[in-house]
Amino acid sequence: MEFFSFNPSLNFLEVAIMIEVEGLTKYYGNYHALKGITFSVNKGEILGFLGPNGAGKTTTMRILTCFFPPTNGKARVAGFDVFEEPLEVKKRIGYLPENVPLYKDMTVEDYLAFAAGIKGVGSKNIKATVDKVMHECVLTDVSYKFIGELSKGYRQRVGLAQALVNDPEVLILDEPTIGLDPKQIIEIRKLIKNLAGRRTVILSTHILPEVSMTCQRVVIINDGRVVAVDTPQNLTSTIHGANRFSVKIDGPPQYVIKELEAIQGVEKVIKKDASASGIGEYIVESIKGRDIRKEIAPCIVNKGWALLELKPHEMSLEDIFVKLVTKE
Ligand SMILES: Nc1ncnc2c1ncn2[C@@H]1O[C@H](COP(=O)(O)OP(=O)(O)OP(=O)(O)O)[C@@H](O)[C@H]1O
Ligand SMILES: [Mg+2]
Repeated sequence: MEFFSFNPSLNFLEVAIMIEVEGLTKYYGNYHALKGITFSVNKGEILGFLGPNGAGKTTTMRILTCFFPPTNGKARVAGFDVFEEPLEVKKRIGYLPENVPLYKDMTVEDYLAFAAGIKGVGSKNIKATVDKVMHECVLTDVSYKFIGELSKGYRQRVGLAQALVNDPEVLILDEPTIGLDPKQIIEIRKLIKNLAGRRTVILSTHILPEVSMTCQRVVIINDGRVVAVDTPQNLTSTIHGANRFSVKIDGPPQYVIKELEAIQGVEKVIKKDASASGIGEYIVESIKGRDIRKEIAPCIVNKGWALLELKPHEMSLEDIFVKLVTKE
């Protein structure tokens, strides 16, 4: 497993590590939530932190934001240890927690001014800072509204704005699009991409398309352990253990499956749900390094069935995720 893969989108000379996490463990009482998490994030990178419910995403993020210390292991942000120099770390981090504690009876503008004050923005600069983050998060038009009156998507933007108010180098976003409708999800994603730039971002999610659309690299965790670190593209193209082909055949499924299974080198045939037209779709897995395409075509045609499609089957990020988190 490759932990520190090179990120081609960054200029080699500019690559610097902004966040380093090494062997983090965390016990809640007797419960072992993190079992040795190690990864790093380059400066300017958007890292997707992916894992099913209970994997340990929020726990890791809370350690990084100095909410509580790890039981063991180290975490550094911009070179500062989260445990030994929490003030230095907090200065550099903006955090959007899972459930943003927003004051519903404050207006957007007043709340952000309040957040800026707490985060040490000098009183003279508060107005300009708040205007700037409201502009960045497209909140200017609702600045006078009470937070309690906003839709969930707009409340999430207020959460993002409060994370940005001290102009942090690092943004830690815990499931920023959870509970939003598809249109709002697209808007928040766009916003995050625009916010990135000179900032380093860790974004947790269990929604897979999120990482392929927003992130340059992904850390997948499961049950308190890292199970993969790579780019979304590499994950989809390299994790195959076998050659897989997707075929569409117009023929009686039970016989088609038998025929395909009988081809030398075929390991497994999976029938996908029938399409609306009733044409059978199959995934044929062969042993590694053996190209069975040449054998599939004659075997089908000789039976008098129609071969309507034959193409390599790319595993989706969903397939890979399921494979990674269920193999344990
Ligand atoms: N305060 C706590 N006390 C005891 N156990 C906890 C506490 N917080 C979290 N846990 C447990 O630790 C494990 C990891 O939780 P965590 O919240 O980090 O997961 P997560 O990956 O963020 O999940 P989700 O996708 O549901 O937000 C879970 O099994 C959870 O029940
Ligand atoms: Mg969580």
